[in-house]
Amino acid sequence: MMNKSGTRVLATLMVAAGVMLCSTFSHAADKLVLGFAQVGAESEWRTANTESIKSSAKEAGVDLKFSDAQQKQENQIKAIRSYIAQKVDVIAFSPVVESGWEPVLREAKAAKIPVILTDRAIKVSDDSLYTAFIGSDFLEEGRRGGRWLEDHYKGAQGPINIAELQGTVGSAPAIDRHNGLIEVIKSDDRFKIIASQSGDFTRAGGKQVMEAMLKSYGKQIQVVYSHNDDMAIGAIQAIEEAGLKPGKDIVIVSFDATKGGFQAMMAGKMNVSVECSPLLGPQLMETAKLVAAGKSVPKRIVTKETVFPMETAAAAFPSRKY
Ligand code: AHR
Repeated sequence: MMNKSGTRVLATLMVAAGVMLCSTFSHAADKLVLGFAQVGAESEWRTANTESIKSSAKEAGVDLKFSDAQQKQENQIKAIRSYIAQKVDVIAFSPVVESGWEPVLREAKAAKIPVILTDRAIKVSDDSLYTAFIGSDFLEEGRRGGRWLEDHYKGAQGPINIAELQGTVGSAPAIDRHNGLIEVIKSDDRFKIIASQSGDFTRAGGKQVMEAMLKSYGKQIQVVYSHNDDMAIGAIQAIEEAGLKPGKDIVIVSFDATKGGFQAMMAGKMNVSVECSPLLGPQLMETAKLVAAGKSVPKRIVTKETVFPMETAAAAFPSRKY
């Protein structure tokens, strides 16, 4: 049996416990909620990018809502709309293509949800539709690939015929890696792009396109300029199946510098891979937290990258993280 004062003590304790519970819950609710709309799982690069985002969200205590658009813009738009409906704190996405984002970004702006772009840029008439863009400079990557070619063929006679394996049509890396190459080789008329087609950044796509190019141009192809390592690896298979030696009979220039790319370089089958880092997770979490707290962040955050010619691959491989 409890007397009156005992009941009062118990009631006070219960209220205190309630307050503690409430504060625990409100702390959980304080967790930053980030909606991320990923492009897909088209490449080794993308897998590493997804892993970087998921693991850094966990480390940073961010409540991550993640969706995979399977390389389709309409799926990404749907995911962004659902994040708006869920009233997440920040939306981030890696846009599959450059154009067509204004309507959905206007909806996010009207809902006062800041948007951060990662990896790929977009073309919009109003820059205030996104808060920041974290990612590589794809145009510079293309120039790096072009400069490596210039160096490699210093003093050689032309024509030097290039077969280009393009990434996803309309995507920023496909557009910029192409334009970067053109910028460098346009003043050197030895270089000719004799074929150019999209392999959609996949191994299967790269192999299929390379098979068709080999059928049409055969030994005329001296260089394959592949917009990523996955397509280059697919192309290497096609070249070997055609009885030629990738890395020797056909020079392979590629992008990303993934472990798969490094293995191809160490086997002497890929001549160079221009680095493009997918490890954007930590920077994204940091930026999302600042943005959610109303702090200002740089509009453009460029990833630091380098170039790995095949001769450097074995020494660099042990410290590669993706
Ligand atoms: O946007 C980055 C590009 O997308 C990578 O180079 C490619 O591998 C990926 O699929």
